[in-house]
Amino acid sequence: MTRSRPGAQTPLTRRAVAAGLPLALATPALAQPLRLAALAQRAGLRYGTAIEPQTVESDPAFASLVLDQCDLITAENALKWNALRPDRDHFDFAAADRVAAFARRARAPMHGHTLVWHEAIPDWAIHQLRSGDPRALLVDHITTVVRRYAGRVVSWDVINEPVERNDRRPDGLRKSPWFEALGPGYLEIALRAAHAADPNARLAIADYGLEYDDIGWMVEKRGTMLDLLRGLKARGVPLHALALQGHLLGDHPPAFGAGLAAFLREVASLGLAIYVTELDVNDQNILGDIAQRDRVVADIYARFLRTVLAEPATQIVVTWGLSDRYTSKTDFAPRPDHAPVRPLPFDADLRPKPAARSLAAAFSGRTARG
Ligand code: XIL
Repeated sequence: MTRSRPGAQTPLTRRAVAAGLPLALATPALAQPLRLAALAQRAGLRYGTAIEPQTVESDPAFASLVLDQCDLITAENALKWNALRPDRDHFDFAAADRVAAFARRARAPMHGHTLVWHEAIPDWAIHQLRSGDPRALLVDHITTVVRRYAGRVVSWDVINEPVERNDRRPDGLRKSPWFEALGPGYLEIALRAAHAADPNARLAIADYGLEYDDIGWMVEKRGTMLDLLRGLKARGVPLHALALQGHLLGDHPPAFGAGLAAFLREVASLGLAIYVTELDVNDQNILGDIAQRDRVVADIYARFLRTVLAEPATQIVVTWGLSDRYTSKTDFAPRPDHAPVRPLPFDADLRPKPAARSLAAAFSGRTARG
């Protein structure tokens, strides 16, 4: 079992005691097992993770950690086009249904990822977008998928990563296959189709590179994103949230200050909720031993969440995985020293890391602030 016994000292609390820290500082709910979902709920949030169906099916200890800690489930890959659409005439819901079955076991709703993205599009669909009826292709896909999971997927990343300033359009839109086929109207087409298919689902636009106050292109991207959101809201397009992916950088100062807070305020003032949907910390280039690396990662989680959770519109926090045992960073951001990466709240042995305490403390801090 992964849940620590009441009163038991975790490695973290033992370390804190050894370091002379009062225990109460080491663990926010002394003698309570760590339950991130419960702490999040008290703070008016849902906490969850992205999963692959095969991990929770083949690894009962990992599955029980997810069941203990999460009350929102995202499919890391199973709802993407290349997973759902072997060819034009068929849907393959097998993997997505397995994620949905696990969410049911967890008694947790799902956050859906994602209906429109410039990646993970099968070749046949790229071809269709160029030579077939792109609008029908998009609307049919969204209608079928959103209807199937209505009531289970409560919120959707309808559009993922629509902004790419390097594509040099005045509106900042990425020249994705969707854009090339349908023009800027593809966002509205997608959002309206999703809303028609499930009027209760909350619909989000998700993007990366909105987090840091001291990275020029990110600050500019915030402005571009705000213009995009404002335009959609002004036209009455159904849109309920902005999702920050939250892929944070281990080798960059945690510059999540007044700029981020002001950006989130502006987003909220449009009547939009804020989600964090892919939170992790790239620890590829962090130097030091494991304890030092974990402290840096935990501090980045803490500082990011302090600002994001201070914004009342923030409703969801999803980490892109839960344990370092299963993280796409292993492939996408390996360390030069070949040491295993440690981007997530729980280590590869499923024990809470300082980052888990950062999440717990951030949730508890929000509750305390009311
Ligand atoms: C990643 C998955 O984690 C990988 O397993 C997959 O091979 C590629 O996609 N932004 C997103 C996510 O919106 O869908 C990506 O997920 C990570 C970056």
